[in-house]
Amino acid sequence: MDYKKIIIEALGAREMAYAPYSKFKVGAAVLMENGKIFTGCNIENASYGATNCAERTAIFKAISEGSKEIKAIAIVGDVKNYTYPCGICRQVIAEFAKASAIVILAKNEDDYIVKKLEEILPGAFTSNDLDKASKKQ
Ligand code: THU
Repeated sequence: MDYKKIIIEALGAREMAYAPYSKFKVGAAVLMENGKIFTGCNIENASYGATNCAERTAIFKAISEGSKEIKAIAIVGDVKNYTYPCGICRQVIAEFAKASAIVILAKNEDDYIVKKLEEILPGAFTSNDLDKASKKQ
C-alpha cells in the first residue's frame, strides 16, 4: 500500500478546509476496497456543532459514491503534531472498516505514523453488538 500517495491526497484536501473559527485545517483521504481514493476537509459552521470533520467528509463522499469498505485513511492536521481522528470520526471509520484497517497520521508525506483502527478504537461498538443484543430476546 502506497502510504505517501494517500497522504499527498490528504494534504491537497487540507488546502480546501473551511475553518474560519478554529483556524485548524484538516485534510483526510480514504483508500477504498475498489482502489478509489476520496478526499475531504473540515467544514466549519457559525453554529459550531454543525461542523463536519475532514475524515467524515471523505468517508461520506466515498460511501455516497458507491464504495463500501475503508482499507486505509490518512489524516493531516497540525504540521507540528500528529492529528488523531476525533471520537465521532473513529466511530464512523469503524462502521465501514475492519479492525485491521490502516490509519495514517501524518505531518507531511515524509513524517507519519501508521496505526491499525483497533489500536485507536479498542472495543469498538459495531453492528455485531446490535446482532447479539437482538438474539438475546
Ligand atoms: N477536526 C477534524 O476535521 N478532524 C479531527 O479528527 C479533529 C477535528 C476539525 C473540526 C474542527 O473544524 C477543527 O478540526 C477543530 O476542532
